[in-house]
Amino acid sequence: MNRPSADLACSIAGLKLRNPLVLASGVLGTSPTLLERVARSGAGAVTSKSCGPEPRAGHPNPVALPWGGGVINAVGLTNPGIEQEVPLLIEARQILRAVGVPLIASIFAPTLDDFGRMAAGINQAQPDLIEVNISCPNVGDEFGKPFSASADTAAAVTRLVRQHTSIPFSVKLSPNVTDIAQIAAAVEAEGAHAITAINTVPGMLIDAYAAQPVLSNRVGGLSGWSIKPLALRCVAEIYRAVRIPIIGTGGVSCGLDAAEMIMAGAAALGVGAAVYQRGVEVFAQISEELRDFMTQQGYQDLENMRGIALK
Ligand SMILES: Cc1cc2nc3c(=O)[nH]c(=O)nc-3n(C[C@H](O)[C@H](O)[C@H](O)COP(=O)(O)O)c2cc1C
Repeated sequence: MNRPSADLACSIAGLKLRNPLVLASGVLGTSPTLLERVARSGAGAVTSKSCGPEPRAGHPNPVALPWGGGVINAVGLTNPGIEQEVPLLIEARQILRAVGVPLIASIFAPTLDDFGRMAAGINQAQPDLIEVNISCPNVGDEFGKPFSASADTAAAVTRLVRQHTSIPFSVKLSPNVTDIAQIAAAVEAEGAHAITAINTVPGMLIDAYAAQPVLSNRVGGLSGWSIKPLALRCVAEIYRAVRIPIIGTGGVSCGLDAAEMIMAGAAALGVGAAVYQRGVEVFAQISEELRDFMTQQGYQDLENMRGIALK
């Protein structure tokens, strides 16, 4: 007997997605034509590169390198600054609306107050969802610790963003903490509509022949298949702690990875490093692989599968 094909549609914070695969922030920048290409290639939603209040050149090369376990990068939050970002996002949003794919606009800031200003500024672009990247150093902190490092600073950013925008937003968490569930709960309590987890994992690679780190910045963020178990653990812990949807991100590169992430509690999935590995076709490919897996295993829709590994 042929089973009916599984339904991949999902919704996050009121946004309807034709499938759960979201282009992760920073992987392909913010060019409207590139975002359109990803959307036309089958992504369920696309996220722009994180934008801050001022233009930033980022770090000198080399800034990103594929290796056996995925990718390491220290791009240094290269972006044109909010003033130039808004017209880019308006153009991207118009193109993407025609394709029926939501735009998620990622923001970051160096100080708490700047997060409020960024939320207010990004309103002008009217993205479908805002993603708040808090894995950036807080220059107001004595040690320059990221906002993502504690429940208090994560909650303070969330409160401020909520006060400055009526667009739904997701707070993107770092795995580099002792209790990610506590941070997720604090962010939910302050009114975040979703959580994106995880950002990259701090790491370093050394070229033994050159006797130096491979990145100009020495340390960088790991992404891709080596971080998948860490991402699954984080998503599972967050899922147990909150009721808002999670965009599970980290090491998703095939349909089985996607199924695992949904079984850990994700409502949608970020795809980053796999775009380098499989090209922009990765979104359509993972969708088909996920649909085949679900159909074979008798899952009619994502809701049926979400969090099932934790029961
Ligand atoms: C080259 C590169 C640049 C990135 N830039 C950003 C960024 O600007 N903002 C952000 O929130 N995450 C950024 N990330 C992190 C990804 O969005 C994602 O959280 C991470 O790579 C884990 O997913 P993956 O294993 O599918 O790559 C970047 C990742 C890479 C590889």
